[in-house]
Amino acid sequence: MHTILQINSSLFGATGQSSKLAAEFAAALAASTGGRLVVRDLEQHPVPHLTAERFAAFTTPAAERSLDQQRHVAESDAMIEELRAADTIVLGLPMYNFGVPSTLKAYFDHLARAGVTFRYTAEGPVGLLNAKRVYVFATRGGRHAGTATDMQTAFVRQFLGFIGLRDVEFIYAEGLALGPDHRAQALAAATARIDQLAA
Ligand SMILES: Cc1cc2nc3c(=O)[nH]c(=O)nc-3n(C[C@H](O)[C@H](O)[C@H](O)COP(=O)(O)O)c2cc1C
Repeated sequence: MHTILQINSSLFGATGQSSKLAAEFAAALAASTGGRLVVRDLEQHPVPHLTAERFAAFTTPAAERSLDQQRHVAESDAMIEELRAADTIVLGLPMYNFGVPSTLKAYFDHLARAGVTFRYTAEGPVGLLNAKRVYVFATRGGRHAGTATDMQTAFVRQFLGFIGLRDVEFIYAEGLALGPDHRAQALAAATARIDQLAA
């Protein structure tokens, strides 16, 4: 069965604009594929920051891990397995202070595991997650796409590619704070793209 993983990273949880667009698309995709929808909400269930202790757990050989280290690794393993099991990933991505939500960065820090999601070779790093399509619903108060102030897109694309997810499409809803007309226009364009993609 087609599994869709929807990841919300808005600080407003499911009511955030990025979460709403992600949910709209994920539901349409689930309906058209007869698929199963799994939702991870990083506001409702935040992932702890990566600490030296947690990072040490990742790099300690499995047979030598303490109970605490085993627990830390199991948390990261579960997030990675959830991604691995998904056929399609739908990410709600608000821009906060020019970057990604800190909750999303914390989540990403649990996904980057040498020997598990990437490995280094003589030719450079190789992502180890199986290819799957990723749709990113990027919402912004201002307009940034295609300009120097959009550091978010490059970062998210780079990170996902690093762990093997190279097939990424961004759907932007920008200028949401520029007035009701701009907002309505941007949301209508995003919804039109959702209809196209889910058809
Ligand atoms: C804390 C915070 C920081 C924000 N920083 C930016 C920013 O740097 N650039 C921008 O264009 N919009 C910024 N915005 C506006 C949001 O990107 C916009 O409201 C977006 O729709 C939020 O998505 P959400 O409702 O899914 O959280 C910010 C909003 C908040 C709440």
